[in-house]
Amino acid sequence: MSETPDGLAGFRGVLRRFTTPLLPDDYTSLVNPLWSSRELRGKIESVERFPDDTIHLVIRPGWGVPVSFEAGQYIGIGLRVDGRFTWRSYSLTNAPDTRDGLFSITVRAVEKGKLSTHLVGTAKSGINVRLAAPAGDFHLTDPLPAKVLFVSAGSGVTPVIAMLRSLKGRENDCDIKVVHSVRKSEDVIFGEVLEDFGAHIQVTSESGRVSPEVLEELVPDFQERVIYACGPATMLDELESWAQESDVEIRVERFTIDRVSEAAGGTITFGTRGVQASVDGATTILEAGEQAGVQMPFGCRMGICQTCVRGLSAGHVHDLRTGDIHEPGTRIRTCVCVAAGDVTIDV
Ligand code: FES
Repeated sequence: MSETPDGLAGFRGVLRRFTTPLLPDDYTSLVNPLWSSRELRGKIESVERFPDDTIHLVIRPGWGVPVSFEAGQYIGIGLRVDGRFTWRSYSLTNAPDTRDGLFSITVRAVEKGKLSTHLVGTAKSGINVRLAAPAGDFHLTDPLPAKVLFVSAGSGVTPVIAMLRSLKGRENDCDIKVVHSVRKSEDVIFGEVLEDFGAHIQVTSESGRVSPEVLEELVPDFQERVIYACGPATMLDELESWAQESDVEIRVERFTIDRVSEAAGGTITFGTRGVQASVDGATTILEAGEQAGVQMPFGCRMGICQTCVRGLSAGHVHDLRTGDIHEPGTRIRTCVCVAAGDVTIDV
């Protein structure tokens, strides 16, 4: 995930020297609550509410937040809920436009979704939020593919909307097909954008789900297209196997961590206290610590907020989000890293 620019980091360093022993934030926040040297912040600029527990939010990023992004990427939002910061990632729904530098997201309150319920219930303009910079690999390539098929379900439409909006705003010869499914017709959001692109809307309570067979019928030239899919894991799993069998390029967006890795697991030693845990390659370092009684800080548990970052002093870990292997001496996000052999973590 991208960090703040070098120049800005340098400026913050200077500010830090001049403001010691108090932290720069102690001063800057007095002037503008969006200025922080410790974290990225933003302010909710506007809120639009819809009857089905859905809101559209426009957020003005604060000082140091990178405002350039690719349509299809997401940002992290952090808010204090019940006394602790809770984080979630949301796809940006606006087309990138560095002139206004705003972020738009759509949030639907989901059952047991602490942050989504809180946001839908309490968000109003003027509220400050913590942000994680735009990130994610789910975006269009440059040059664009000649033919694209977007497949989405429910709120999985959000990154697709950003891509459609960005395509509408620029010259292109890309041949676009869109298939979106919702449970009931009143669940459709961004209806005008979908209509603009002649999207097929499948209402699953009436016509059944969008299976590979349905797609083959709706888009007979699917094998000539690059497929972008976002929706529930079961749908994505099915589409990925179908695309593989059909020799079609597919890109999917999942908002949960895929725990399948080749990491072997191992014995994790937590700091100098000698607390150890033996784990498999699907248990994150953070979870292993919790099981062993070592409490480490965390926020999003999804690799976006960096609250859980700790030093890796020995061994190697595998990052479930990026697939990277981290070396000893680096700092790792314990919520998304698993042990690839025996490791020691600074706590
Ligand atoms: S808890 Fe947010 S990155 Fe790990």
